[in-house]
Amino acid sequence: MTANSSPLIRPLAVCCVCLGNICRSPMAEAILQHLADARGIPMEVTSAGTAGWHIGRPADPRTKAELFAHHIELRHRARQFTSADFVRADLVLAMDTDNQSHLIARATTQADLAKIHLIRDFDPRSVPGSEVPDPYYGDQGDFREVFDLLTAASEGLLARITSDGLSPWQTT
Ligand code: 4NP
Repeated sequence: MTANSSPLIRPLAVCCVCLGNICRSPMAEAILQHLADARGIPMEVTSAGTAGWHIGRPADPRTKAELFAHHIELRHRARQFTSADFVRADLVLAMDTDNQSHLIARATTQADLAKIHLIRDFDPRSVPGSEVPDPYYGDQGDFREVFDLLTAASEGLLARITSDGLSPWQTT
């Protein structure tokens, strides 16, 4: 099934989640939205942090630099994940297992739980359970690695959507 014949009646809502919502998840949001738009796949991507330390702040300059180098736009203010995100999102994509555990603890329904995935589990070349390493205390090279991991995961997710049509994890 092609993206154009997708049975989705509204854009797939995806929320990418990391710890601070300034490094990895804003980058994931921008990459996934950019690639979905380029393929004509209706998708609305947001991001949030499990912690609230950076609420209202822009993305880390190293995230912005990496995206700028790839001609991907990002307008961002950090925010904290809330239970409303479980309602809005079809998919909640955690960057690592700590964030995944936090999300699982916050889930209140089976439907919430079913939305939670590790983002790299959509990369067919990654080992199940793989994480996007936290680059905050690293250098630009670590952000470059995050960019590559998130691009592979995003491509994998979009390939699944394109080939599966209405996905097994979308029930509405
Ligand atoms: P992120 O990275 O979770 O990818 O946004 C971090 C940002 C800030 C901190 C840790 C990780 N911090 O400790 O403030």
